[in-house]
Amino acid sequence: MVDLAAEELTLITPQWAEPLFAPAMYKGAKGGRSGGKSHLFAEMLVENIVINPDYQFVCIREIQKSLKYSAKKLVESKIRAMGYISLFKITDTEIRRIGGQGLIIFQGMQDHTADSIKSLEGFDGAWFEEAQNASARSLELLIPTIRKEGSEIWFSWNPDQRNDAVENHFRGTESDPDFVLVTVNYLDNPWRPAKSIKQADAQKLKDYERFVHIWLGGYNTKSAAQIFAGYWESGEFEPADDWEGPYQGLDFGFANDPTCGVRAWIHKNKLYVEYDSHDDDEQDIGLELDDTADWLDDKIPGVAAYALKADNARPESISYLRRHGLPKIEACTKWPGSVEDGLEYLKTFDAIVIHVRCRSMLEEARLYCYKVDKRSGEILPAIQDDHNHRWDALRYALGPMIKQQRQAGVFVKKKHRN
Ligand SMILES: Nc1ncnc2c1ncn2[C@@H]1O[C@H](COP(=O)(O)OP(=O)(O)OP(=O)(O)O)[C@@H](O)[C@H]1O
Ligand SMILES: [Mg+2]
Repeated sequence: MVDLAAEELTLITPQWAEPLFAPAMYKGAKGGRSGGKSHLFAEMLVENIVINPDYQFVCIREIQKSLKYSAKKLVESKIRAMGYISLFKITDTEIRRIGGQGLIIFQGMQDHTADSIKSLEGFDGAWFEEAQNASARSLELLIPTIRKEGSEIWFSWNPDQRNDAVENHFRGTESDPDFVLVTVNYLDNPWRPAKSIKQADAQKLKDYERFVHIWLGGYNTKSAAQIFAGYWESGEFEPADDWEGPYQGLDFGFANDPTCGVRAWIHKNKLYVEYDSHDDDEQDIGLELDDTADWLDDKIPGVAAYALKADNARPESISYLRRHGLPKIEACTKWPGSVEDGLEYLKTFDAIVIHVRCRSMLEEARLYCYKVDKRSGEILPAIQDDHNHRWDALRYALGPMIKQQRQAGVFVKKKHRN
C-alpha cells in the first residue's frame, strides 16, 4: 500500500485559485461557464484524500436525480489523471480510500431531512456544486452540520440572482478570515476549450446581456426593469465618412463616482456608441483635473479635436480643461425634466448600438433601471439613481438635439422590440 506525504503531490493550478489553498471554513468559486471551478475543486478534493487516508467528504447538489448528475465522474477522472487509482476502491455510489476510513459520497440536499443530514456530522468537508440552486433551507441544514474542527464547505456556482442563498452567505464577508471567495471566468482558465471561446465570442455579439450572465458570471438581470430594454444592442462597427458626429460627452467624477466620457455617432437613425472611457485600472475614480485630458485621450482617441459637452455643474473644471488640453469642451445645458427628455430622445432611435469595447457603457445598459417595488416586484415609473454615468455623458453629448426636439415637441417613441 502506498501512503503519500504532502510534498510528493505537485498540482499545476491556475493563478485565480491561489486564495483557495489556505484553510478557511467557507470557500467559494463563482463565475461564468468554463472557468475551471469544478476541475479545481475536484483536484483539491483528490489531493486532500490522498494526503489524509481518513478524509471524509460529501459532494452535494441541491437536486441529484442520479449519480450521473453528480461530480463522481469528474472526481474519478481526476484520480486516474493524477495517477492515484491504486489508492482507491470505486463503487457505483462512492469512492473509498484504501488504507483508511476516507470516503467520498454524493448526495442531493433535497433528499435530506433535518434528521438525515446528521449522518454528515464528523465529515471533513463538503462541496456544494451548482450552488446557485441551493435553497436557504439547504444551507441552514448543511452549514451547522459540517462542524468538525478544521472542516470546510466549498461552493462553486454560476451566479443567477443577486439574492440567491449562496450569494447572501458570502455577501459582506470580504474581511472575514473564515470566508474566501474568488471570481473566475473562461478568460482566467488556462485550459479553456477553444470551443468555449468561440461560443462566448458569438454570444457577445448576439446578445451582450446573456453573454455577461453566461460567460462572465453576471447576474441574470431581469431586463424588463431596464430603462433601455429592447433599445440597445452590442456590436462591432467602424464609423464611415457619411456618419453624423462625433458627439462627445463628459460626466465629472466625485468622491466615489468615476469620470466618464463617451463618443457617439448617428447614422440612418441609429445611435452608435463608439468609445467609452472604460478603465480597468479604475483611474477614473478620484481622477485629478490635471490628468483628465491625457487620460481621456488615451480612452477616446483624438478626443480634443471635437466638441465635448460636459456637466454644467462644474463650470470651473470646464474652464480649466479648456485651457489645459481640451480646447473644445463646453458646458451642457440642463432644464427641468432634461433627464426624462434625454431618455425619451434616446428611445427615438431605431437602435442604440454599443461597440463591444465599451465595457462600462454595456454594463450600464444592463443595469440602468427603473425602481422595482420590493414586495410586489412591480416596475415603478421612478428611475433608480445608479449606473447612469455613461448615460448622463451620452445625454450631454446629444444635448443640442434633445433640446431641439423638446422645443419642437416631436418625441416619437419607438416600440420596445422585445
Ligand atoms: N485542471 C484542469 N485540467 C485540465 N483541463 C481543465 C482543468 N480545469 C479546467 N479544464 C478545462 O476547462 C473546462 C472548464 O472547466 P470546468 O468544467 O471545471 O469549469 P466550470 O467553471 O466548472 O464551468 P461550468 O460553470 O460550466 O460548470 C473543462 O471542461 C476542461 O476542458
Ligand atoms: Mg462546473
